[in-house]
Amino acid sequence: MSKASSIFICQSCGAQSQQFFGRCSSCGEWNSIIEQASHNSSNKRNKRNSQQSHEASLIKSEPIDASGHETLERIPSGYLEFDRVLGGGLVPGSLVLVGGNPGIGKSTLLLQSASAIAKNRSVLYVSAEESAQQIRMRWKRLKEADCNLQLLAETDLDLVLREIEALKPDIAIIDSIQALNDENLSSSPGSVSQVRECAAALQRIAKKQSTTLLIVGHVTKEGMLAGPKVLEHLVDAVLTFEGDRFASHRLLRAIKNRYGATYELGVFEMQGKGLVEVINPSELFLSGEYASGVATIVACEGTRSLLVELEALISGTTYASPRRTTTGISTNRLHQILAVLEKHMGLTLSRFDCYLAVAGGLEVEEPAADLGIATAIVSSFKNLTLPEGTVLIGEIGLGGQLRPVGQLTQRLQEAVRLGFKRAVIPKGSGVDCLKQEIKMELIEASKITEGILIALDGDPTTSA
Ligand code: TYD
Ligand code: MG
Repeated sequence: MSKASSIFICQSCGAQSQQFFGRCSSCGEWNSIIEQASHNSSNKRNKRNSQQSHEASLIKSEPIDASGHETLERIPSGYLEFDRVLGGGLVPGSLVLVGGNPGIGKSTLLLQSASAIAKNRSVLYVSAEESAQQIRMRWKRLKEADCNLQLLAETDLDLVLREIEALKPDIAIIDSIQALNDENLSSSPGSVSQVRECAAALQRIAKKQSTTLLIVGHVTKEGMLAGPKVLEHLVDAVLTFEGDRFASHRLLRAIKNRYGATYELGVFEMQGKGLVEVINPSELFLSGEYASGVATIVACEGTRSLLVELEALISGTTYASPRRTTTGISTNRLHQILAVLEKHMGLTLSRFDCYLAVAGGLEVEEPAADLGIATAIVSSFKNLTLPEGTVLIGEIGLGGQLRPVGQLTQRLQEAVRLGFKRAVIPKGSGVDCLKQEIKMELIEASKITEGILIALDGDPTTSA
């Protein structure tokens, strides 16, 4: 193919160039540029774009307004956990992208939600990945067959747009954006230009007729939503559906939300008959087993507190440099805590491999987990089991000091609710005030050494 008929497009940010580069000059990504043959189609696309920009300028005269306009009464998604992540339900005319790994349950979640909404609103479910027969089978499995949901199994963008225009549904679900195909473009479905064009065309029509669009997007092998930057800027909310494929629970998070708070967490459980929401998810991450190397922390996810078990395994190394492996916690955090333990507790951890995992596939990022991580490590190293019903809360400073954490009352309340009796917390957390509200033994510690010894001892000398 001649150079004149080729265009080079970055699959990460969508930037175009006439020449091939190993690294995208726009977003700096390596090996993301692919060659695309599109001489004829680019003319077509340009023509199409000029028509669209005319159309777009008409639509702009009635924009969606986030400040409580009367048309913005939210539509409940049928699931409290889904609504929590959305910030109280779906905003009419908004565009929501739901991303996640294949097989995690995106189609199931959206089909169930669509069925629930369809009980009193018009909903169109467009499946570009499965045939109508396959969706009907899933639908029957979910026992949702009696609701008034319209199904369309189609991959052609124009036909999908026509159907949305004709039906004017309150909600339209596109499963998935990567499987849709704009025939005016020569690139294959799923490429950045296809995803961008399809999403933009859908957005125009959605805003024009106030249809709420829920779009499924796949996660690429690098763990990003395909065509990420392009789509993330375009949509009003980006939700990710994640979880361990081998465990039954699934976590829904908002990473961008124009109409609500981000970092809220929704918890579901995948069962034989579909997804069931978990209103009190703390129990999910607790096994109730007490062994050496296990410590319980309280993690905050948005407005919700979760009790989570951490597991550490310390064993003599056979490698020149010991292994440090983590699941659900950043390796840098582990390195830092190991260094503090080595320096301030005199433990020779550099001769041991260290494996650390958060039970249940949850990701814990907040520093409030530090004391729990350190205690789990020491517990495994010394082969000591923590006394039953103890939670550990505190951030560790590089000097070995324990620092107070935010939302302490909320964390302790959740621990009390789940029957925990004892909490080790940083000094300076205002124990006298807390004692009025929290009916559990609260033990303050100012140093990491003190905190860990008290936690492992079970018979603290300093008791509040
Ligand atoms: P699916 O929604 O197809 O995932 P995605 O759209 O994200 O690719 O869900 C696929 C998995 O969910 C599949 O491995 C089977 C499982 N599943 C159940 O366990 N129970 C159910 O009721 C359904 C419908 C699916
Ligand atoms: Mg699917």
